[in-house]
Amino acid sequence: MVDSYGRIIRDLRISITDRCNFRCVYCMEPDVRFLPREDLLTVDEIVRVASITGSLGVRKIRLTGGEPTLHPQLGAIIGRIRATTSAEIAMITNASGLSPVSLRDWKAAGLTRLTVSIDSLKEDRFARLTRSTCTPATVLTGVEMALAEDLTPIKLNAVLMRGFNDDEATDLAWVARSLGVEVRFIEYMPLDSAHAWESSKWVPAAETRAAIERVYPLVACDDSDPSSTARTFRFADLPAESAARVGFIAPVSSPFCGACSRLRITADGMVRPCLFSTTEWDLRSPMRSGATDQELADILIDATWTKQAGHGITSPEFVQPERPMSAIGG
Ligand code: 5AD
Ligand code: SF4
Repeated sequence: MVDSYGRIIRDLRISITDRCNFRCVYCMEPDVRFLPREDLLTVDEIVRVASITGSLGVRKIRLTGGEPTLHPQLGAIIGRIRATTSAEIAMITNASGLSPVSLRDWKAAGLTRLTVSIDSLKEDRFARLTRSTCTPATVLTGVEMALAEDLTPIKLNAVLMRGFNDDEATDLAWVARSLGVEVRFIEYMPLDSAHAWESSKWVPAAETRAAIERVYPLVACDDSDPSSTARTFRFADLPAESAARVGFIAPVSSPFCGACSRLRITADGMVRPCLFSTTEWDLRSPMRSGATDQELADILIDATWTKQAGHGITSPEFVQPERPMSAIGG
């Protein structure tokens, strides 16, 4: 799958459910209405889409949500995708419901690694941010369990918001050091359901990096993957082989759209060539009315061709997509 700018799609994000047990303020504020159950892709449909994209050159499939671990048949989804493609399978989770047994099952089924979202280490803030009963300690225990099951490299994602948690960069970097994982700071993007994003609320990656470097000097790693969205650094005082890293994903201050290799499938089976697409391509209806694999592949190929050059978040003509992150899948 190649777009009109010559970018090749290697990376598929598939949202397997829009349900979530958190209500993160930047995602589900004030609240989102979940999609009707019958609109969600079935396990057979998820596996079919994954398998077709695998035959179209996708090398990495990331399961997202909502919260993918809420899907009652997650193990089967992983196992069946593994059986039909050679793409690597990763997953992004809020880590509220991990257990050694489930992690072991998913790994045995074919999951290779996890990304965990954690935006605050302070219990009260975490509760206000996620509007859940989960705690940062539970999330970190989940990360330790995933490390023990070798679902590595593990990445932590943190979104800093001005005046809310922008004082936690150094503490989150300390977590990366103490657990031996990579923490990635993602600039806050206008994807919230309340459409409350303001340019005063996002924190530039350069500022976050400067705050961390006041305590922990960093050394740039060679970013081998040109389509990687993150610039990664290691800690100057730790051995080069340490897995502890800090990454910065800067979609607002330095858009990486030119190197984007991603395509997204929503929980209700729509293809979104970009996180910020305002048009979607329906795969679910054709799939339910007897389309062949070739016909579905053609839809994916056509959708990819329309992938927009960039998101234009900072341009005055920018239009925020209707769907919140929970229904797109990070
Ligand atoms: N801006 C930046 N990142 C976001 N995420 C969710 N909403 C936003 C937003 N508005 C992140 C979550 C998660 C990943 C799926 O996307 O923190 O790590
Ligand atoms: Fe759930 Fe993720 Fe949205 Fe938070 S950001 S409410 S964890 S889907």
